Amino acid sequence: MTRLIYVLNGPNLNLLGKRQPEIYGRDTLADVEANCRKILPDGYEIRFLQSNHEGVIIDWIHEARESAVGIVINPGAFTHTSVAIYDALNTFEGPVIEVHISNVHKRESFRHHSYVSLRADGVIAGLGIEGYEAGVRRVCSLTAAASA
Ligand code: DQA
Repeated sequence: MTRLIYVLNGPNLNLLGKRQPEIYGRDTLADVEANCRKILPDGYEIRFLQSNHEGVIIDWIHEARESAVGIVINPGAFTHTSVAIYDALNTFEGPVIEVHISNVHKRESFRHHSYVSLRADGVIAGLGIEGYEAGVRRVCSLTAAASA
């Protein structure tokens, strides 16, 4: 049976590559998706999604409850504001890895707090888009032993 990983992206990440490239780089979200697919071990599949809307992300987390073994999530600015995404992630039983392209701890103080980190099994910040691959690898290593 194929193990499905949800890779979820929050607001403004559709503009990756164009938006503040000095912070987020010039690679696009399509590049991120392609990189994640390249390192995916046999037996795993990815559902790679982006939305600017909090409720849509929550719906995807609920969907993941039924179908996914793990979640990699870059919630964008919702990281710092959304109790609702935190609550949704708490309904998910598999591993959750939080990814930030930039090192949020080196930036404005409002980015230093994350609701999602209260649930995440791992937090990656400041590795650029490579953080997504690290997140996917971690979900795979945490779920590989589980019976398929
Ligand atoms: C981000 C960091 C957040 O603070 C910011 O709001 C984003 C992107 C990152 O990937 O570095 O939109 O999650």
